[in-house]
Amino acid sequence: MSDVSNTPAPLGAFPRVRPRRLRSSDAMRRLVRETRLDASQFILPLFVRHGSGIRTPIGSMPGTFQTSVDECVLDAERALEAGIGGVLLFGLPDTKDASGSSGWHDHGPVQDAVRAIKAVCPTLLVITDVCMCEYTDHGHCGLLTPSGDVDNDATLELLCREAVSHAAAGADIIAPSDMMDGRVGAIRDALDAAGYSGVPIMSYAAKYASAFYGPFREAAESTPSFGDRRSYQMDPANGSEALREVRLDLAEGADILMVKPAGAYLDIIQAVKRETGVPLCAYQVSGEFAMIKAAAERGWIDGERVMMESLLAIVRAGADMVITYFALDAAAVLQRR
Ligand code: PBG
Repeated sequence: MSDVSNTPAPLGAFPRVRPRRLRSSDAMRRLVRETRLDASQFILPLFVRHGSGIRTPIGSMPGTFQTSVDECVLDAERALEAGIGGVLLFGLPDTKDASGSSGWHDHGPVQDAVRAIKAVCPTLLVITDVCMCEYTDHGHCGLLTPSGDVDNDATLELLCREAVSHAAAGADIIAPSDMMDGRVGAIRDALDAAGYSGVPIMSYAAKYASAFYGPFREAAESTPSFGDRRSYQMDPANGSEALREVRLDLAEGADILMVKPAGAYLDIIQAVKRETGVPLCAYQVSGEFAMIKAAAERGWIDGERVMMESLLAIVRAGADMVITYFALDAAAVLQRR
């Protein structure tokens, strides 16, 4: 990571010192470049459902789809071919209920997709999102109490079942995104007890209650039927709290930390990286993607350049890896250069 604050003061001043000398040509700029992008840093989210031959475009996220398992495998093969770091699976179940029980079904869409992808692309890292919101009929990330609150401790048990079923299917990394307190420790214990002590946890450690998730909720069919997620996801006003969340998750056994969203939270990314030095992921979420796509479609910005600049900024801030719907497009740009 580049450390902007430690840049030494220049020895001397203009006209002897001319920063423009090192910007004089492409070769010169490449030589002194501080941050580089590589396809292996990108993680591609995929939305998977039952059935076959399904590839339904997601309206607010041009170029992304809900797919059946067979089509999802094709996307995974593309990701592997492009040298991308991994894929992140989200499930769209056929049925939803109050406890989200389809989330830990051995033949849920995610479990089936993990097996199908690993059979064809054994070297591709398959990460699974663990949360209840795609599987509950009310759309919240956990079990509800009679008064409609999300019941933290009762939810942990369900998340553990879901995580273990993903690991049993062959997931390489488990990524809990629910923001219940204590879930990293609970999932770690459950994975260990089930014989998956070697499966890492990528924790959505600092996940904010963000309006930037709007398009995703269409993609994942996970909009809460009432209320919002502010009683479990973080207040966008809070920075110090992110460090507290991160320390708690590390103490509970998180292997990789995540900050989400990314673009509007670069200060959090930088602070978490400096504070912990632990592998750090940032999630460039659906709204960030949709805004760039929409402006580019209208010709208001150069979509490709803004895509690459947005990813570069996230990595410059301190992210080691980026979950992004641009993963394939950005990898293609890097390949061309
Ligand atoms: C599930 C989850 C969400 C996202 C990732 N996992 C939605 C939410 O919390 O409401 C958002 C991803 C995106 O917007 O791209 N809890």
